[in-house]
Amino acid sequence: MQESVILKTLRLARPYWPLLLGALLLSAVASLLSGSVAWLVKPVLDRVFIAKNYHYLKFLPPALIGLYFLRGLVTFFQAYLMRMASLKLSNHLREKMYAKLLRLPLSETSHETMGRMVSRVINDTTMVEPVLADVFKTLTLEGLTIISLVAVAISRRWDLALLSFTVFPLVAVGARQMSKKARRTRHHAQQEIANLTHRVAESLQGLPEIKVYQQEKTLLARFQQELRAYYRYLLKVTKYREGSKLIVDFLTGVGGALVLTYGGFLIVRGVISPGDFFSILTAILMTFTPVRKISRAYTSIHDASAALERIEEVLSYPEEEGGPRKAFAPKKGITLAQVSFKYPHTSEWVLKEINLEIPAGQTVAIVGPSGAGKSTLVSLIPRFYDPTLGKVLLDGIDLREFELGSLRALIGIVSQDIVLFNATVYENIAFGNPKASREEVLAAARLAYAHEFIEQLPQGYDTVLGHKGFNLSGGQRQRLAIARAILKNPPILILDEATSHLDALAEKKVQQALETLMRGRTTVIIAHRLSTVKNADLLVVMDRGQIVDTGKHEEVLARCPLYRELYHSFARERKVIPLKRS
Ligand SMILES: Nc1ncnc2c1ncn2[C@@H]1O[C@H](COP(=O)(O)OP(=O)(O)OP(=O)(O)O)[C@@H](O)[C@H]1O
Ligand SMILES: [Mg+2]
Repeated sequence: MQESVILKTLRLARPYWPLLLGALLLSAVASLLSGSVAWLVKPVLDRVFIAKNYHYLKFLPPALIGLYFLRGLVTFFQAYLMRMASLKLSNHLREKMYAKLLRLPLSETSHETMGRMVSRVINDTTMVEPVLADVFKTLTLEGLTIISLVAVAISRRWDLALLSFTVFPLVAVGARQMSKKARRTRHHAQQEIANLTHRVAESLQGLPEIKVYQQEKTLLARFQQELRAYYRYLLKVTKYREGSKLIVDFLTGVGGALVLTYGGFLIVRGVISPGDFFSILTAILMTFTPVRKISRAYTSIHDASAALERIEEVLSYPEEEGGPRKAFAPKKGITLAQVSFKYPHTSEWVLKEINLEIPAGQTVAIVGPSGAGKSTLVSLIPRFYDPTLGKVLLDGIDLREFELGSLRALIGIVSQDIVLFNATVYENIAFGNPKASREEVLAAARLAYAHEFIEQLPQGYDTVLGHKGFNLSGGQRQRLAIARAILKNPPILILDEATSHLDALAEKKVQQALETLMRGRTTVIIAHRLSTVKNADLLVVMDRGQIVDTGKHEEVLARCPLYRELYHSFARERKVIPLKRS
């Protein structure tokens, strides 16, 4: 499993192969430099210490300094390249996931999945970083170093080298077994302490019972028993830990003796020089650090493996899909044909067999009590959701046949919950049309009656809104959203209670702006006010997911009791008090 994480990560990091290759080459150079340190021991010993040659003595210290400096330099760049590759990789994953998130269908984005997505985009990608930056880096650098050291030792005298390389790892393995035992025993000891703590707490709580049933002696006996267990475990820990040291010391002695005997024998017989012997010994000692580093590098890989799996899961989510056709401004209109709808993972029908014609260039006003399904109905037009049954058609063509981008380009929305982004007022309006000039943005703000209040903000159009930014009132938000829609200048408009937060004066102004905006456009407006309803070409009354009546205001008023009720509340309050139906 651990190898597969490294392989998977390497596959993902394929675009950065020049960096990885560079790092690998540098690792090779660094490992050769380590090897040459062990190699140098022989001439030092034989020529300087034994033959007492001054010429070599002069030459060696700078060589040693040079070697180590070079090695430091090379490992520095190796680490740097690896880090570059791993940061590029994790940022690339973040980018891919963020792009995925933006293309996710709304039907798949509950609050819960969103929370998880956020953590995945930010945290999980961070956990993948060490796979390249630590594990792979250490594996290549230290792995090659070990190989190079072993090669040096073997080239000096192969059988002595092999003898040493088998004896010392054996010692290490033995020591590890013991320390594992010690760890397990320490775990038992910790449990025992927990038991003791629990016992004391429990006895204090149950003191009346203990006294009445005169259990003092039994409990004390049990406590003593547990104390003894604790004592035994801790002694065992010491036994294992110190014992392992003892064994390691002993084995090191035995191993050393073996190596020394055979090495000494070879030296005395003149087969190898003392330099050969110490060169091998140095090589062995120098492998200890790389071995330790490699075993430590593996610790972060478990988290990375789980994180990588979660990232892959996100990247495999289905995306919104459109069709091949380019959408166009409606000439006939938008039709809802036998549309029924349930939200995903729910069982209740929110829309039931809706048939509705929204003629091109006209305004359809939808009214109905809260929860009737008005917002849901209009959310089908930009395909935030698709009907569970039935179809939504644009000039007779199913919306699913259109390219999503081209369809949404036709639609302007002022929704019930207006989201302002963490950006300036200007940018929040320009969101409607990023290509607009400054004049156009200001003109849109003026038409939406937003210009005056924006000018009064601390930094005017450059005031930063949203998270940690300036907070606007509901009415101000709505006017910004209207300005956004005006700037987009779309053939289809969806207005969801677009003016419900405005005071009487602002409402009148925005109403005028909206009327200019709506002229000649296909508009669906969820209406809560008398004037909108009266001016609409068609009025649709909804209740509990169904259309209960449609027609002109007067006709519907004459025959629909629900509309009469709503109408009176419009007239009385100017704004509707949502009638809660359950
Ligand atoms: N994302 C969602 N997931 C599940 N159910 C939802 C979701 N959004 C709305 N509903 C449910 O669908 C029904 C219709 O909601 P909708 O928002 O369309 O009503 P509305 O007519 O716009 O009401 P209001 O006038 O209060 O805005 C309600 O019962 C609501 O609880
Ligand atoms: Mg609504």
